Amino acid sequence: MCARRVSAKVFLCALLGLGIAGYAQSPSNVLSFARVTGVTPLSNGVELHDGELVMRITALRDDVLRIRAGRKGALPEDASWAVLPEARSASVAVTQDTDAAVAGFHTGALRVSVSKATGLLTLSDLSGKVLQQDAEPIQFEGDRLHLAKTMPSDEHYFGLGDKTGAFDRRGQAFRLWNTDAYAWQESTDPLYKSIPFYLSYRAGTTLGVLIDNTWPSSFDFGKTLAGTVQYRAESGPADIYLLYGPSAKQVLASYAWLTGPTPLPPLWALGFQQSRFSYMTQARVLEVAGRLRSDRIPADAIYTDIDYQDKNRPFSINTTTYPDMPGMVAALHAEHFHVVAITDLHIANVHYPPFDSGVAGGHFVKNPDGTLYVGPVWPGPSVFPDFTRQQTRLWWGTLYKDFDHMGIDGFWNDMNEPSVFIAHLTIPDDVVHHIDEPGFVTRTATHREVHNVYGMENSRATYDGQLALRPDVRPFVLTRASYAGGQRYAATWTGDNSATWNHLRLTTSMLKNLGLSGFSLAGADVGGYAGTPTTELLTKWIEVGAFQPIDRDHAEKGTGDHEPWVGGVEQEDIRRHFIETRYKLLPYLYSVMEENTRTGLPLLRPLFLEFPDAAPDRHPLDVDLDASGEFLVGPDILVAAPPFFDKTDDYDAKLPSSGWYDFWTGARVDKAEGKVATGGLQPEAAKGPVLSVVHLHPELAKLPVFVRPGAILPLAPLMQSTAERPQGPLTLRVYPGPECAGQLYQDDGTSFAYKHGEFLRMKFACDASAKDGSLTLHIGKHEGSYPAWWKEIVVEVEGVSKAPASVTVNGRAGKVTSSGNAIVVTVPDGGGGVEVVLQE
Ligand code: NOJ
Repeated sequence: MCARRVSAKVFLCALLGLGIAGYAQSPSNVLSFARVTGVTPLSNGVELHDGELVMRITALRDDVLRIRAGRKGALPEDASWAVLPEARSASVAVTQDTDAAVAGFHTGALRVSVSKATGLLTLSDLSGKVLQQDAEPIQFEGDRLHLAKTMPSDEHYFGLGDKTGAFDRRGQAFRLWNTDAYAWQESTDPLYKSIPFYLSYRAGTTLGVLIDNTWPSSFDFGKTLAGTVQYRAESGPADIYLLYGPSAKQVLASYAWLTGPTPLPPLWALGFQQSRFSYMTQARVLEVAGRLRSDRIPADAIYTDIDYQDKNRPFSINTTTYPDMPGMVAALHAEHFHVVAITDLHIANVHYPPFDSGVAGGHFVKNPDGTLYVGPVWPGPSVFPDFTRQQTRLWWGTLYKDFDHMGIDGFWNDMNEPSVFIAHLTIPDDVVHHIDEPGFVTRTATHREVHNVYGMENSRATYDGQLALRPDVRPFVLTRASYAGGQRYAATWTGDNSATWNHLRLTTSMLKNLGLSGFSLAGADVGGYAGTPTTELLTKWIEVGAFQPIDRDHAEKGTGDHEPWVGGVEQEDIRRHFIETRYKLLPYLYSVMEENTRTGLPLLRPLFLEFPDAAPDRHPLDVDLDASGEFLVGPDILVAAPPFFDKTDDYDAKLPSSGWYDFWTGARVDKAEGKVATGGLQPEAAKGPVLSVVHLHPELAKLPVFVRPGAILPLAPLMQSTAERPQGPLTLRVYPGPECAGQLYQDDGTSFAYKHGEFLRMKFACDASAKDGSLTLHIGKHEGSYPAWWKEIVVEVEGVSKAPASVTVNGRAGKVTSSGNAIVVTVPDGGGGVEVVLQE
């Protein structure tokens, strides 16, 4: 048994349990911050001492604290790969609260108190509600670090990126060590990314915790020691950020402030993307692209995987199978496709330009004896860039010059954990890297220290390289490995999943947790990477994928084809319908992505993020089995997929609040029974915490999707790619309900001109007046200088059964028609704002 209060024993138990190797310290080497012997007040916090241990707690903002601790009287270096320098140096004044029993302070939102007798830290809000409490004081054992927090029975934990297992991390333990986890399964850990950020969530109150340490580490949410959240790192700094909500939304906004938001992606990145390992010839790439167009399946990107290269050597081309890559790219551009090429980080250990220039610049990592480290990957013996050196990243960026001239639009950084085909799966621990970087002390570092940031710095080099080569074009980089803050440089995906129903189910919790960890632009291989999906599985996966942020169909070598037409015309028709729906929704999806750059709120959201009060006890709905298949797309669209896709039984989906609309029919869904109800212009408002239960019957061709009452969704005419200018009006689907509002953001989709005012932003609102039975829709004026594609807006008011008695558009009589469950008014839009009044 592992004892709770015996520090050294807890350490030993946990280290053995979590497989952190090399435990050989004597218990006498354990130092705990177990009492406070000295207190130094600071204008922005407090510094505490316990013998040789020092701990500094500072307020970056009223709601964001930083805790750093170290041995020998020294704090760890103030440097970070994850946290922006401007956030790290932010500071607010605090009020000291130190007395005989505690040392601490408070800000405008938080109170920190450390018991002088025990060294235990308590964080609470100003009303006294405890947000986090130490179960053990901070402990150091040699270089190792151990933190232990109490774990209230109703607290839930989310984040840590796309780690597998249940959505709620409670009761689970995870290792942070970026790993090429081919064909991972539900219990596989670790995976490709290390994002040491989680949210603790308790009845609507949220605290975000970032532990900024790149060394091998682990999080244990009460798995090894019931009632205790434990963190261990085998070395590195105690550098902790605490982000207070109370709402989860506020924590995500603060996390974006701390680590940087996802930059606005090119619009085409939100289109449908087609990939395979590999399209073996240029002719096959063109054939697949041609078929997408001739079958009228909207698509925006096609990927070339490693076989386009000569002998799998990054930055080369196999001119036998791809005899005219520039011609291929030009032909794809002419058909409105964007091309994404894989460029793995390993450089073949042979004389060719990337190797030769890399050796000349000293850009590859070395063995401790000073020789080049060489390890086998796809090209055979390979060398590995030293991405934690700024000069190496700059050099890496220049390697893209030829591809850039060819017009390749995006780059895929795979294998960057980094993966090496040896038993250890990666570069040996003692290989020498350099940290040579503004903001850091220049020094060497072992691979073990920088392993977890290696993939992020690879994607950073690629992103910055694109910007240097094409300063006016938004880069698109897809990375497999990353660390906290990696969203600044790249989109990501969940790696080598499998073509099974269970893996389709897992995408929901993995993408939710990625979104809660800063990665809004994320996807899972549609159809499943390993294995061949059944026809039905591919169809259902394409349906669900159409509502996920990155919608990329990808498959492993040796598997059956996964393209949308595989399995026959009937299936293709179903799949096309869903991809078309995504394209019509692009104005909404893009507007949410733009919102993400300002708020940190992800595109794919758990229900609790928008509806923290839906359950009477305010627990997060997503943890309930019957809501576990559900996710929100932005604030307004709810996809109610079943908890288990392979079950054919009917199921009950939980909808937070009442009065939802069926996205496909526009009909209102009755609260109690899930019956379709038609109504007038005055739907009743939801009161208090209330859940609707909808009884659903799974069907292959259908995916239940609902719309929040009060939403106003902008839709575009169907296009085959985002490179087309939409032909026809903008559609606004109005779903009357409380807080009725919506927004639209548009720009050229590719450049940075939006930063200089070339965007188009519109706000919409609707008011239902019970007094005179009217519904007024306000269409805001156009803000920004980007021109609208439309001259007219088609307003569809959903869930209305009978035509209104009168309609006025800017005070003049308008014409109304009805269509299904909606009434439709077409209004001119010259940009100055429109008011539409419907009178019952
Ligand atoms: C591993 C990646 O996860 C997969 O998506 C890719 O197709 C192969 N490497 C080959 O590049």
